[in-house]
Amino acid sequence: MTERVVVDLDHLTRRFGSFTAVDQISLEVYEGEIFGFLGANGAGKTTAIRMLCGLLLPTSGGGHVAGFDVLTQSEQIKKSIGYMSQKFSLYVDLSARQNLEFYGAAYNLDRRTLADQIAALTQRLSLGEFIDRPAGSLPVGWRQRLALAAALLHKPRILFLDEPTGGVDPVFRRTFWGLLYQLAEEGVTIFVTTHYMDEAEYCNRISIMHAGRIIEMGRPFDLVRDHGAANLEDMFINLIRAQETTGATH
Ligand SMILES: Nc1ncnc2c1ncn2[C@@H]1O[C@H](COP(=O)(O)OP(=O)(O)OP(=O)(O)O)[C@@H](O)[C@H]1O
Ligand SMILES: [Mg+2]
Repeated sequence: MTERVVVDLDHLTRRFGSFTAVDQISLEVYEGEIFGFLGANGAGKTTAIRMLCGLLLPTSGGGHVAGFDVLTQSEQIKKSIGYMSQKFSLYVDLSARQNLEFYGAAYNLDRRTLADQIAALTQRLSLGEFIDRPAGSLPVGWRQRLALAAALLHKPRILFLDEPTGGVDPVFRRTFWGLLYQLAEEGVTIFVTTHYMDEAEYCNRISIMHAGRIIEMGRPFDLVRDHGAANLEDMFINLIRAQETTGATH
């Protein structure tokens, strides 16, 4: 992890009609950091990530990703980042390899680079056995690895992962996080959402969102200590419940 800021947000806001899904969030993420973006269902995480990935325009506020402006440089942002969406976005009838070829073409990789990257990622993510099977037939853990491979094809320096381990078994989750750690050690910045508190503990820092706002941010163990909680899960639940009893809901 370096001191270089690669994501900065300044009062980033997104409304849908009169509803504010993301409400003035500000944060900085450092190069090589694993940043956990936590929050209850509907807190606004996916909406925020879509703005960071250049897929949705903010209503107000702004920010930078990989040095590019989220308001005006979405095309440059898309080329610089890898994104794993919360919804499964691979083509179920195409094989794992064909999916990677499709995404590689979308990133304009030349044939040689694409072939090398597919071979490297197949090995790194242990996808060999599954590479010629239809993506839709893969067990969930393997599908998610394939989606990670697709997000890594163009060697992005920042990865946005929206619940990459949803529905994945504990053994797969552990190996998946092993891969994320390796990537972070290579200097890749990882911005990840999860509802699993064991995964939140693996993050360098986390933020916690509620009703569109960031209500807490820091290193996992500092937060547990500062709140006098038994563990991260208790801290998270107490914090969200306290927000709900003070009426700070949508
Ligand atoms: N296109 C849209 N139009 C209207 N409302 C939307 C739209 N997209 C999201 N929302 C609303 O914004 C709020 C935040 O949704 P979002 O998907 O960002 O939450 P989330 O934190 O990712 O939740 P989850 O943990 O369930 O994935 C929700 O109330 C959702 O219904
Ligand atoms: Mg979401």
